[in-house]
Amino acid sequence: MSEDIINKGVSTTAEEHVKRWCALAAPYPEPQVLRPNPYYASLLLEDYAGSVSEMTAINQYFYHYLTLYQYHDLAELQECVSIIEMYHLELLGETIRMLGVPPEYRTLTNNKPVYWNASYVYYGYGICDKLSADIAAEKSAIQQYRLHQQLIDDPYIKALLERIILDEQHHLALFSQAAAKYCPNIKV
Ligand SMILES: [Fe+2]
Repeated sequence: MSEDIINKGVSTTAEEHVKRWCALAAPYPEPQVLRPNPYYASLLLEDYAGSVSEMTAINQYFYHYLTLYQYHDLAELQECVSIIEMYHLELLGETIRMLGVPPEYRTLTNNKPVYWNASYVYYGYGICDKLSADIAAEKSAIQQYRLHQQLIDDPYIKALLERIILDEQHHLALFSQAAAKYCPNIKV
C-alpha cells in the first residue's frame, strides 16, 4: 500500500475516506433507515453481494491491482478504488442490518439465498481487457443503484445511494482516463 493511503488510526472515519484521491470530495451520509423493511434489504443485498455488487467490485479491482503491478499508476488506481468499494460495502452492510436482515454475503431475491461467488469477478488478461470490464462494471453498478433508488421509498437510503453513485461516476471517469492513455482503441 502506498504511504499516502495508509491510515494509522484504529478505524477509518468517513472524513478520511473522502480524502482518498479516488473518492469524490463530498461527505457521506450516516447509514439510517425510516424503519425495518426486508424487501428493501433484499434489493440492497444485490448491490452488496450479488453478481453486480460491491463485493464483486472490491475483489475485481484488487485482482487487477495485483496483476497490473508493472503499470504503477494503474495499479494505484485499482487499489484505491477497491478500498472505496469496501467502504461502500460497509455503508450498505450497516443499512441492511438496520433494515432487520443479517448482512451475510448473499442475496435473498425471491427469498432464495444465493451466496457471493468468486466467479462473479472478471479476472481478464491484458490491460485493455481489464479496463473495459472495469468500465462496464461501473456502468452496471450505476444503473442498478438508479433502479433501486426508484424502488426504495426511504429518503435516508435514497440519499446514501445518491452519494455512492457519485463515487461510481468518479471511478468511471478515472477508469476511462486510464483507458484513453493505455488503450486508445477501446470505445468507452
Ligand atoms: Fe461502489
